[in-house]
Parts: sequence; C-alpha cells; structure tokens
Amino acid sequence: VSYLTHLECAACGRRHPADVLQNTCPCGGSLLARYDLARLGREAARDALAAGPPSLWRYAPLLPADDPEEAVTQREGWTPLLRARGIERALGCEAVFVKNEGANPTGTFKDRGASVAVTRARELGVKEVVLSSSGNAGVAWSAYAARAGVSCAVVLPVDAPLEAKRHCGLFGARLFALRGPWARAGALVREAAGRHGWFNVNTLQEPYRLEGKKTMGFEIAEQMGWRLPDAIVYPTGGGLGPIAIWKAFEELRALGWAEGPDPRLLVTQYAGCAPIVRAWREGRERPEPWGEIDIIPGGLRAPDPPGGAQVLRLLRRTEGAAIAVTKEEALDAAGELAREEGVLACPEGATTLAGLRRALREGLVRPGERVVLMNTGSGQRYASAFPKAVATLLWEEEGIPG
Ligand SMILES: Cc1ncc(COP(=O)(O)O)c(C=O)c1O
Repeated sequence: VSYLTHLECAACGRRHPADVLQNTCPCGGSLLARYDLARLGREAARDALAAGPPSLWRYAPLLPADDPEEAVTQREGWTPLLRARGIERALGCEAVFVKNEGANPTGTFKDRGASVAVTRARELGVKEVVLSSSGNAGVAWSAYAARAGVSCAVVLPVDAPLEAKRHCGLFGARLFALRGPWARAGALVREAAGRHGWFNVNTLQEPYRLEGKKTMGFEIAEQMGWRLPDAIVYPTGGGLGPIAIWKAFEELRALGWAEGPDPRLLVTQYAGCAPIVRAWREGRERPEPWGEIDIIPGGLRAPDPPGGAQVLRLLRRTEGAAIAVTKEEALDAAGELAREEGVLACPEGATTLAGLRRALREGLVRPGERVVLMNTGSGQRYASAFPKAVATLLWEEEGIPG
C-alpha cells in the first residue's frame, strides 16, 4: 500500500488532491507528492524493506501507486552500488562507489521515472503521453508506455543518438524531430498536449516522474547500510535527478531511517552546455539560458534546465559544487571506468569521474571522503561516441605472437 496523502506546490505550498490527474499548480509551481510519514514510521520497519522485490518497487509505501501489484515494471532500479577500487587507486581516494544505472532495462535511470509515472498515469486514466527528450527518457517512456498499453509521443533533437531514435521507434512511439533551438522543446510539448489532449510528462510538469527517480536516493542509503555518503556526483541536465535524490533523503530523515548529515551535491556538466555551473560561479539564484550547445549528444542537453533554481538551492544548502568538464575529459573518464572497473559508462555518467578528479585537485573533496559517482546510463547506446576507445584496441593482425 501507498502512504500517499496529497500533492503540495513547491512554490506556493498549496495542497492539491492526489487522486486526480494534475500537471502543475495554477501558480506555475511544480507539485510534490507527500506521504503520511508519521503513520508509515509507526506501521513499518526499515529492515522489512530487505524482503521486498529487487526493484525500485521495494519502496512501494513511499511511491504513489494505489496498487503496486499492478505496477508497470520490468525490474527497474535496485541497481548495483559498486566499490571502485581501481578508481580509488588511480585518484588516491579511500572510498569511491559507482551507482550503475546502466543496469536498468533500457539502460538508463530514466526507467525509474517512467515505471512509476506511467503506473500512476494509467491508474488515473491516461491513454496518451507526450514528452521531449534528448534521447534516453524518450526510450524509457516509449518502453514503459508500450508495456502499459499507453500511447507515447516523443520530441527528439534531430541529432539525438541514432540508437535512441531507433529504440523509441522499436517500442512503437510516435517520433517528432525538433530542428530549431532545443530550448523550444518544452513549449512545443505544452502546445501539443493542449491541442491533442495528451498528458504532458516533461520534467517537473507532473509530480510522479520525480517519485520514480527518488528511489536512487533510497537505494544509495540502503546499500550503504543507511549511513549516507559524504558526497554524490551527479551529471545534471534538467536537474530532476538531484532534486529527487535529496527528496528521498528528506523522507528517510523524517522516518528516522537514515544516519549522517545530507551528502554534498556535486553537479557535473559539459563545458559546452553548463548553465548551472555558470550560475553557481556567478552566485545567481537561477540559471540564465545557455546559447550555443557543444556536447556529446545525449542527456546533458538542457540549455534552460527546468530544475535549475532548485538545484542551485540544493548546492547552497549542502555546500556542494558545480563543475564543468570537457568532452575529451568525459570520454577519457569513460575509458578509465571501462579499464579500471569493467563498467561500460555513458559519457554523461563519466563526467562524474572527470568532475571528481577536478574536485580533488581544487580541494572540494578530500581523499578520505565517501563519494558516490552516478553513472546514469550504459555506454551501449553511444557506440559512435567512443572512437578513442576503439583507436586504442590492440589488434593483432597476425594472431597471438608466440
Ligand atoms: C544518461 C543521462 N544522464 C544524466 C541526465 C540528466 O539528468 P537530469 O535531467 O535528472 O538532470 C540525463 C537526462 O537526459 C541522461 O540521459
């Protein structure tokens, strides 16, 4: 059973019922799902979670589905938290972990938001959803919509990774290519939703995607024995991931289930699209839209991040940091994760390792701290982005020398 009670506007605090379909508050603020944590604390024990399924649905009491038995699931979440001893040696650190979201069914953490939000949308009667995506969310939503019998329309940038376009198509989604500036994507989706009666599931345009993503925070806590790490490095695009993870910590703390202070948030972005890093350096409350984008095509294409102001607030509250890395640093780091850890990281995920290296150099992280790198997805969908790794292949034409 779910302990969901109501929705609350993140901007004006107004309460909304949770049993009717909602996008945002009339004031424009995003809606947060709220639970009866006091009752949950009385009725459930933290350690009982261990008996739950090896998926994010082990946290069903803290998720919005009325009937978790009917969840749209294919065992997303409960991804491994890997100790990264090779990286520790290379960086001179004592405790580095990789949360490997590449292990999700469609290869990224986007499956979490899709599983939970599609489940809830279907419960509330939704038949068609629409979103814009730089690729990975489009694939995840196409897959979970297919599984739920819900139609899905996806707006992708023309240069989205070919594999992402193909996978969306394979799952039967309707695809629309956006040729103009990507900053227009959100407005385009709002218009299309209004015109066709589709449900807009874009970042922070409905409350439940965030609920799926917060399970990353629950898992980090549970997998670390409920003692939170000192810092989490997150490759940040729209910003929903970090907002969701720290919402999880807030709920765990209210339940008395997590120990230690909130981890510091370290945001990584590509130098060629770093609106949050720039705003952090300039001490602004919200990011200014980024102009020309120069990144490895994929998830960090967020020139006007919808969660920007909330991420900046988190950075201030946790005394975190925001770090820009180059495309080359990201690809090198992906190679390093592959060689040192056997982890096939996506370039976005690899920015966290490049960012940690910089953070250590600049004294933002101390070598003794417990650090979690969020590898948000698998490198499988990015074969074309790894020419360097291919170039370093040892190819012995003549067979194995004797
Ligand atoms: C692989 C990957 N990493 C990171 C992100 C950024 O995540 P968020 O939107 O939660 O900031 C995305 C978003 O598309 C992504 O696909």
